[in-house]
Amino acid sequence: MSNSIFLQKDLIEVFAKAKNVFVFTGAGASKESGLPTFREIDGEWKRFDPMTFATMEGFVHDPVLVWNMYRSRQKQIAQAQPNPGHITLACMESFYSDFLLVTQNVDDLHERAGSEKMVKIHGDAWQMRCLECSGIFDVRDQDFPEEFVMETLPKCPNCGGFCRPNIVWFGEYLCAETLCLATHHASICDLMIIVGTSGEVSNGYGFAEFACDNGAKIVEINPTEGLLTEYADFWVAEPAGEALPRIWGEVLSYEF
Ligand code: OAD
Repeated sequence: MSNSIFLQKDLIEVFAKAKNVFVFTGAGASKESGLPTFREIDGEWKRFDPMTFATMEGFVHDPVLVWNMYRSRQKQIAQAQPNPGHITLACMESFYSDFLLVTQNVDDLHERAGSEKMVKIHGDAWQMRCLECSGIFDVRDQDFPEEFVMETLPKCPNCGGFCRPNIVWFGEYLCAETLCLATHHASICDLMIIVGTSGEVSNGYGFAEFACDNGAKIVEINPTEGLLTEYADFWVAEPAGEALPRIWGEVLSYEF
């Protein structure tokens, strides 16, 4: 049962005694770094129509428009810095015998904070994928123009094919291998930490169900109630960049 009023002592004990930890993050984890979420009042999907900017149909209709939006997102990400929430999650990974962080975020703030035991299930803003040969390429150091026009759209360095952002768009499948790995870790965890996601995209349910079936405790960190809050044993209704370092500080001084 979700509960935003709980004994802090019990929450700290759950973190301190856990062995296998599964973390699931969403856009809220990067909000305190200045990156917008999607479905909040000032979210991306309020400014950009997802059918235009996050479907293959939209991309085929106007690839220049779509590439320029993702290019401006890359610039935003490049200027952002990991916040204390990202840094705390990175510190946590060496503390537990089994740990996996699964992020829906396409930014690189978890990696820049030092996370290594992690996977990205919605793609990567710094990658492009060739529509001909399916090759995936890092674009971070590419000398892209300030604004794309049709003639300057990214081409595959291997086959010259037309490329798209390597982001999972609406109506597309997640990478099966990554999903299997994530599902495996969700089903063996004894602590699932959900950070900054509305849960509107379906995978969160599946992961929370697997964790519940294994008897895991579920902790959600999110100032606002979302679709996954019903699974939470502990709902910490605070921003992640404040809650995570505070909780972790207490876990590190927990006396068994
Ligand atoms: P949403 O925009 O749906 O949800 C963001 C959540 O973050 C909300 O529940 C907020 O309450 C919460 N939040 C805001 N500030 C926070 C903070 N400081 N600390 C903790 N939580 C905070 O974003 P996602 O759930 O990530 O897909 O959306 C899932 C997917 O939908 C995204 O990965 C994206 C989108 O379509 C792709 O781009 C492929």
